[in-house]
Amino acid sequence: MSRVKEICTSTKIVEAFDSRGGCVEDLGGYNDVTGGVAGVILAAAAAVPCSGGVAAGYNRPKARETLFVPMAEDAIGTAPQQPGSEILLQDSSCELPIKFAVAGDLGQTGWTNSTLSHISGYPHDILLLAGDLSYADFYQPRWDSFARLVEPLASSRPWMVTQGNHEIESIPFLEAKPFKPYNARWHMPFEESASPSNLFYSFNAAGGAVHVIMLGSYADFGTGSDQFRWLRADLCSLDRAKTPWLIAIIHAPWYNSNEAHQGEGEAMRTALEDVLYGARVDMVFAGHVHAYERFSRVYNNKEEECGAVHITVGDGGNREGLARDYLQPPPGISLFREASFGHGRLDVVNFTHALWEWHRNDDDEPVVADSVWITSHAANPACLKK
Ligand SMILES: [Fe+2]
Repeated sequence: MSRVKEICTSTKIVEAFDSRGGCVEDLGGYNDVTGGVAGVILAAAAAVPCSGGVAAGYNRPKARETLFVPMAEDAIGTAPQQPGSEILLQDSSCELPIKFAVAGDLGQTGWTNSTLSHISGYPHDILLLAGDLSYADFYQPRWDSFARLVEPLASSRPWMVTQGNHEIESIPFLEAKPFKPYNARWHMPFEESASPSNLFYSFNAAGGAVHVIMLGSYADFGTGSDQFRWLRADLCSLDRAKTPWLIAIIHAPWYNSNEAHQGEGEAMRTALEDVLYGARVDMVFAGHVHAYERFSRVYNNKEEECGAVHITVGDGGNREGLARDYLQPPPGISLFREASFGHGRLDVVNFTHALWEWHRNDDDEPVVADSVWITSHAANPACLKK
């Protein structure tokens, strides 16, 4: 814990954030929760070796224990009736480079099969899923069939997921509590990141060189909410000299020039963009819109060199089909957009450079539809001082 205390009071943390990020402000009750701004995270990182897990910070996600346990058809939100068999995952990289597959809105269709087939051809370390998993939509056997569909991949790599609107599964007057099936089947390591909810958490990868924040588009995110306070505490725990890459995953995109779901991410953007900008988050991946779109580095709806690159990958293959209609003309911050099924690949090569690629399912494996090199904000002193 002494190490935690030392890092939490380091001036490096304050220097890495501007006033909009808010590290120098009161962090509310989270000192009480963590025993330090990020006591649980850092203490765990020191105690848990990389071997057998996603990274320093925790071991095999608990999702592997519950993912493949069949549930009764009417068992909305009940816990699995028996423990699942444990599956040992391949060791993840404890240092850079590291490869992430990035997908969203998978569902379980022929298009999903195609996406998973293409992802299986990519030797990735971790899969990041930006919400809308099974499209069970209250019919619980679809959670089981989804588990069987993804098992070949999800049993060999960590699948780190956040929730989408299709995971809410709340029925007025019948089932008031949302996310019960999702929380029962996809238990993410929120306790290990000092989060009070399975709906938002974070984890380290590549020995802490990459910090991934999984946010909840359908959990309260307003100022003073649990998610807001946890996010600020989590980001303030970071030392960008040791963690050059910051990635955030949401469901409803904050930037979107597709006609589908226009404005649905705006309330969350208004609430949290300053926090992410202050922490110099490098990339934000979203789903929800069933198409692909990549934006420039943006902040407050304008191109900004210290803002995050926003990318929508809601094109995993669900039964609702593609979102084909875009606003015209395209905004200047939208650099590439296309309504095709596919997935993304993020190859974090070193402390300063990462290669992002988007692959269409329609193409052969070697074909790259969109590609860009991204540099970390931690490599830009101007951004850290700004
Ligand atoms: Fe969605």
